[in-house]
Amino acid sequence: MTRLAGKVAIVTGTSPNIGGGIAEGLADEGAKVVCVDISADNAGQCADWIKRRGGDAIGVTCDVTDEGEVQAMVGRARDAYGGVDVLVNNAGILGGMSVLEMPLERWNRQIGVNLTGTFLCTKHTARLMVDQKRGGSIVVIVSTAGHQGQAGNIAYSTSKSGLLNFTRAAAMDLVKHGIRVNSLTPTATDAEEGQARAASWGRARTERGGRLLDFAKMVPMGRLPSPRHYARAVVFLASDDAEMITGTDFRVDAGAIAKYWPWIPN
Ligand SMILES: NC(=O)c1ccc[n+]([C@@H]2O[C@H](COP(=O)([O-])OP(=O)(O)OC[C@H]3O[C@@H](n4cnc5c(N)ncnc54)[C@H](O)[C@@H]3O)[C@@H](O)[C@H]2O)c1
Repeated sequence: MTRLAGKVAIVTGTSPNIGGGIAEGLADEGAKVVCVDISADNAGQCADWIKRRGGDAIGVTCDVTDEGEVQAMVGRARDAYGGVDVLVNNAGILGGMSVLEMPLERWNRQIGVNLTGTFLCTKHTARLMVDQKRGGSIVVIVSTAGHQGQAGNIAYSTSKSGLLNFTRAAAMDLVKHGIRVNSLTPTATDAEEGQARAASWGRARTERGGRLLDFAKMVPMGRLPSPRHYARAVVFLASDDAEMITGTDFRVDAGAIAKYWPWIPN
C-alpha cells in the first residue's frame, strides 16, 4: 500500500466520518497527513489514530474561513513535512433550511465554510505547490445535492453546486503549474463506518438518527457508500495514476445521479 509514498496530504474536516475516512485511506497508502479541523478533537484524534495505525500525521486546528489561520495551517504543513502534494477540501456544514426560512447569518456561514473555505485552502496550498514546482493534486468534496435541487437545503445545495464549477475554473488556473483539481461527489453515506471510527478514536457510540426516506432502496446499487469508498477514489485522484485527469467530477454515489428520476430500483 504505497501508492502515495513520499507524498504529503492536507485533509480538512477530519471528523470520524468522511474526512477521517479519507485521511485514514491516504495514510494507508503511505501519505503523511495533516488533519485539519475547527474542532481540536477532530484534528488531534484523527492524527493520533493514524499514528496508532503506524502512519505519520499531525493535527492542526484551523477555521477554514479565516485566511490568516489557513495561511498558518499551510505553513505548519510545510514546516512539518517540507511541502504539500495533495489537498482534500472536505470541511463543510451539512443540513439546512428552505429558501423561505433561511436566516442570512446561517446562509453566510454555510456558504463561508463550504465555498469560501475551499477557495482559501486551495489558494494558499496551491501557492505553496507553485513555489515547490513539483505539481500537486487538489480534490474538492461535493455532494449529490450539488447536482440536483434539494428541498430544505438551500445554502448547502447552492454551495455544493458552486464547488463543481470552482473545481473546473481552479483546474484551468492551475494547469500550467502541473496542479490537477478534481471534485468527488459522495451521496447519503452509510453511518456505520463513521460510528466505528469514532469508537476507535475513544468516543462514546451515539445513536443514529433515522432518515425519513429509505435512501438505500432508492439508489441503483441498493446500498449506500461508506467513507472508505470515497477514500479509495481520493487516493486514485491524488496519485500519479490520475496524471491526465483534471477539471472532472468523480461520482461515488452508487449510481444515484445517473438514475432516471422516477425509477425506484429496489
Ligand atoms: N455525510 C454525508 O452523507 C455526505 C454526503 C455528501 C457529501 N458530504 C460531504 O462530505 C464532507 C464531510 O461530511 P461528513 O458527513 O463527514 O460531515 P461531518 O460534519 O462529520 O464533518 C465535517 C467536518 O468539518 C468540520 N468543519 C466545519 N466547519 C469548519 C471550519 N470552519 N473549519 C474547519 N473545519 C470545519 C467539522 O468540525 C467536521 O469535523 C462535507 O463536505 C459534506 O458536505 C457528506
